[in-house]
Amino acid sequence: MNRLIVVSNRLPFALDSIGEDLWTVTPAAGGLVSAVEPVLRERGGTWIGWPGIAGEIPKEPLAEATRDAGYQVVPVSLSEEERDEFYYGYSNEVIWPLFHDLQNFCNFEPGYWQAYREVNERYADAILRCSQPDDFIWVHDYHLMYVAQALRERSMPQKLSALTFFLHIPFPPYDIFTKLPQQQRLLRALLQFDLLGFQTRRDLRNFLQCVRRVMSDAKVVPRRELQVIRFEKREIRAGHFPIGIDFDSFESGAKTEVVAQKSQQLRGTFPDCQLIMGTDRLDYSKGIPERLRAFRDALERYPELRGRVVLIQVVVPSRVEIPRYHEFKGRIDRLVGDINGRFSTGTWFPVQYHFRGLDREDLLAHYRACEIAFITPLKDGMNLVAKEYCACRINGDGVLILSQFAGAAEQLKPGAMLVNPYDVEQMADTILKAFRMSQAECTARMKRMRRVARDENVFWWVDSFLKAGAKLASRSSRFTAWERREQRARDTVKS
Ligand code: G6P
Repeated sequence: MNRLIVVSNRLPFALDSIGEDLWTVTPAAGGLVSAVEPVLRERGGTWIGWPGIAGEIPKEPLAEATRDAGYQVVPVSLSEEERDEFYYGYSNEVIWPLFHDLQNFCNFEPGYWQAYREVNERYADAILRCSQPDDFIWVHDYHLMYVAQALRERSMPQKLSALTFFLHIPFPPYDIFTKLPQQQRLLRALLQFDLLGFQTRRDLRNFLQCVRRVMSDAKVVPRRELQVIRFEKREIRAGHFPIGIDFDSFESGAKTEVVAQKSQQLRGTFPDCQLIMGTDRLDYSKGIPERLRAFRDALERYPELRGRVVLIQVVVPSRVEIPRYHEFKGRIDRLVGDINGRFSTGTWFPVQYHFRGLDREDLLAHYRACEIAFITPLKDGMNLVAKEYCACRINGDGVLILSQFAGAAEQLKPGAMLVNPYDVEQMADTILKAFRMSQAECTARMKRMRRVARDENVFWWVDSFLKAGAKLASRSSRFTAWERREQRARDTVKS
């Protein structure tokens, strides 16, 4: 196996300053980190990324945080301006909302693109500094779509055995993608990778359609497995690789004594109630207000639920410096206040709301204790919480209410209750059905979902991606040779 170099905007931990020379290190939130971290821990390799603070990165806390990681960490620093324009700006005020079909939330500030390119070039330089011939370079997510182009501009891709990319978030349909002012430049940049991975068939289809319609000089050649795109005398492969979780570690974690006790305690706090759980990063794509409205509607229309269900909503703070995220938190706070104000009694509060991340044991205890998971993003690349919930249902029961627009719906639909997250009434009706569901039906559904989450786990995901990349590395040696010839020709002209 070639050496694996993972490149993502975020490292798996976030450094934060709490005073002069005082630092905290906390695990970073989100699907990318929770999926990729166990893989690197198991296989070893190098992770290039940003530890989440602007300015110079202090050496000591970083070394401390990564001592037992099991892989090498190469930090990339961002100045305050770069953080604002590349991370908050182009990545999270343009690409993130657009790729989640929320184009009205985009801030197409022209200056952001330049910052995006420059920071991607910085990542390309970091790759060149720490890679060797035959390394397997795996770039992740929407922050770094320009990295392969930056490497090619440095005439260096022939040094690398495979230059691959995986998009963790959805790829939007043509009508939405083409709102992007840099649509051609971005697709051209993506086509500089050798292998492009998407979460679902839906995303792959959208991407290929955009390539066909936006890049007139690209040709898509449909294949049974990996699709081929011919572009500028190269062949690029593209496929869908649904990301999974480290199922065994969630399952065995949920079985531990400490988690069992915490879960019992939690259950004991709400006697005679079914617990419904939602846990999300603070993000407008997660559909939290719609979910709260559905819960309120269910309580209004179905009095049998009053005093008998509790919604535990965990919201993990995220990107709060972006005004839209900040406003969004206000909306959630108001809705929670409204529901509790309207329905609570002396002994029962319908919504338990936590604006903070849970540590791992508490998270697993919540998964174990809650009879229903209510996961309703407006759109989501995958949504690993859905799979984590299934892995922790060690008694084989539990109901998953899942948005039809989460990538996970493609795999979990045989067992999940799929809902349209924009349809508040349908979601309210589904809460009632879940509440009334028989044990036998619950168990049959959960069995199907646990099988998929166990079989198509994160190691299966990484193997299928690396295998696709390895095939390509051997097949594409002729392109590398071609590129070398081109390079020699260019050098001859120059001299
Ligand atoms: C999503 C993205 C990741 C990102 C994570 C957390 O899962 O796909 O790339 O790291 O959200 O967001 P943040 O902005 O805190 O990195």
